[in-house]
Amino acid sequence: MLTFPDGFLWGAATAAHQVEGNNVNSNWWVLEHTPGTPIVEPSGDAADHYHRYPEDLRLLADAGLNSYRFSVEWARIEPERGFVSRASLDHYRRMIDACLEVGLEPVVTLMHFTVPRWMDAAGFWRNPEAPDLFARYTETVLPILEDGVRYVCTINEPNIAAMLAGGEDAGNLVAFGLPNPDLQVADALLASHRRAREVLSSVPGLQSGWTIATQDFRAVDEPGAAEMLHEYGYPRDDWYLEQAEGDDFVGVQAYTRTFIGPEGPRPVADDVETTLTGWEFYPSAAANGIRSAWQKSSHTPVMVTENGIATADDSRRVDYTAESLRAIHETIAEGIDVWGYLHWSALDNYEWASGFRPTFGLIGVDLQTFERTPKPSLGWLGAVARRNAL
Ligand code: NOJ
Repeated sequence: MLTFPDGFLWGAATAAHQVEGNNVNSNWWVLEHTPGTPIVEPSGDAADHYHRYPEDLRLLADAGLNSYRFSVEWARIEPERGFVSRASLDHYRRMIDACLEVGLEPVVTLMHFTVPRWMDAAGFWRNPEAPDLFARYTETVLPILEDGVRYVCTINEPNIAAMLAGGEDAGNLVAFGLPNPDLQVADALLASHRRAREVLSSVPGLQSGWTIATQDFRAVDEPGAAEMLHEYGYPRDDWYLEQAEGDDFVGVQAYTRTFIGPEGPRPVADDVETTLTGWEFYPSAAANGIRSAWQKSSHTPVMVTENGIATADDSRRVDYTAESLRAIHETIAEGIDVWGYLHWSALDNYEWASGFRPTFGLIGVDLQTFERTPKPSLGWLGAVARRNAL
């Protein structure tokens, strides 16, 4: 038996735009309805989590999990610049209460890729006021976080967000990980994160951090590959991990690894198993990400805020997760302070430009009826959580 530390968080994660449905005031909704982008389908009603969250939380808690990571949606909370929707804030407070009632520790993300349309129109993160606007948004959300919320992620995957912003032709929307992130956006996200952290620090007992996609890029052994790796996507995830020093924790989000040849990223070899996103089935990703985060952030505590696979074969999800957890346990045995494991994802959901096809969920969702079907992987992870051991 591999026992995990006392108080270890065992949970699942989602993001507002990917599950709630009808996020009409967000920049992504606009993009989804703009002709000519590589986005395969719009998000529509998504998984209708906005209305069905009580059922979803109940399923996660009944299975044995003890935490739930979700994001609050800026586009709903401030649909027009300066107008705060009290009703939306109330909604998210009800979600927090519902988590606490069923025994799920809420882990709240303030910004998971989407911003309000007005923010996009006003220059997005390139607007010099962006850090002020994000600080003000954080202040707006603060009252609903003051009672019972202990973990807040300010910004989700700033390294991916900056890369997405670097793709003028929206090509980056699909090929997560193209080079040339927008450095102005990267700086603005860091400044925004720091401003939010300052606002959040006024709440006693609340711990904050940002979550980084640890991408595990490796150069193949060929001339020019190391140079390409160096070129590839500066600032690299390393830089973002370094900036986490001084945060209460750093979120590690890891799925796979990518080999870089002299010509750029290599497709996965034919004889290697891939998942529905085309990524290599590589369960060491999270443990590698943890080690890198711990080292780069000068020993900032780590929380695995996302890890999982898109697959129609749920038994492979269990295999992946079991192997991943075994490797994570090793990092804990090495002395790394790991606070929890939040599986991506609680529900089958809208995988951005790839639409609904890549199913990451522990719970299946019928997109016509919204009926939920817990998969065996949910029961399996819940049992691990109850034992606090693998
Ligand atoms: C990263 C993102 O945070 C999340 O939105 C996405 O769905 C998963 N990883 C899988 O790609």
